[in-house]
Amino acid sequence: MAKKRILSGMRPTGPLHLGNLHGALANWVEMQDSYDCFFFIADWHALTSDYENPGRISEYVREMMIDWLSTGLSPDRSTLFVQSHIKEHAELFLLLSMITPVPWLERNPTYKDQMDQIKNRDLSTFGFLGYPVLQAADIIMYKANGVPVGMDQVPHVEITREIARRFNYLYGEIFPEPEAILTKTSKILGIDRRKMSKSYDNAIYLSDSPDDIASKVSRMITDPQRARRSDPGDPEVCNVFEFLKTYADGETVENIGAACRGARIGCVECKKIMARNLIQALEPIREKRAEYKAHPGLVDDVISAGGDKARGVARQTMEAVRSVMRI
Ligand code: TRP
Ligand code: SF4
Repeated sequence: MAKKRILSGMRPTGPLHLGNLHGALANWVEMQDSYDCFFFIADWHALTSDYENPGRISEYVREMMIDWLSTGLSPDRSTLFVQSHIKEHAELFLLLSMITPVPWLERNPTYKDQMDQIKNRDLSTFGFLGYPVLQAADIIMYKANGVPVGMDQVPHVEITREIARRFNYLYGEIFPEPEAILTKTSKILGIDRRKMSKSYDNAIYLSDSPDDIASKVSRMITDPQRARRSDPGDPEVCNVFEFLKTYADGETVENIGAACRGARIGCVECKKIMARNLIQALEPIREKRAEYKAHPGLVDDVISAGGDKARGVARQTMEAVRSVMRI
């Protein structure tokens, strides 16, 4: 039986951190075994909000591809590409915009939220309103059956389904209605215990050096109730412990948990152990990153071969679309 096709994308707005790794990327890597995978870097989507400062987008695109390759996405098992290299996305976006009622976009909860929250940029643009239409084009271009995304993206997949349904109704059944595949959220928080995010300045990046990691870990907030070394701690509310559960072996986790509850280990020492484990766990990623940085041609090759593969599919889709739309 043919594998089901999935597709997902990330906006290149900065280097990837552990939250991205455990929230999305690790899932994608795993899904390569069971799905026909398309993963792409949504650089046009980055422009919808950062159009005033596009300066670093192309640099982030490369860095993102390096992060992907270093964490186990493989061009032999997935189609990895950059959105803006496939001009067909722009054409399908345009055609879908003809059939998408504006109220669908104005009702979009992520649109309303961002308009309320982001005050330092003018987001009252056509492109920002049309964000989900471009996303719909990305998805249905490849006739994806599933879209692995976080909760925040579910409304966009819902709009995609509505647009696909409307297209099929108007012109004939071409597109499957894709389903959101919810990725489990990462339990790993930023060093200040808020959600890990570039904008909070609390993230540990895949590209961080061992020294960066050690210094960030040393600044991590632990069990806030534990004021002194002699106080028993509660590891279950401690982010350092959450990291240990991900990065240390079961025995270490158990021993440290017990020592923390019995006030037999201090947070400084505990963090040192965690940092050592984390640095070690990320070592293979750092090594691969260094290799790709030293051989930029390898990255160029992946980007161009993935682009060719994606374009082949996109061209076929667009021929069918133009034909049923009589264009
Ligand atoms: N909007 C997505 C995000 O911000 C990125 C994205 C663009 C995407 N096109 C997509 C995700 C298509 C899934 C499918 O995370
Ligand atoms: Fe957290 Fe470790 Fe301190 Fe316990 S000893 S509170 S697990 S950092």
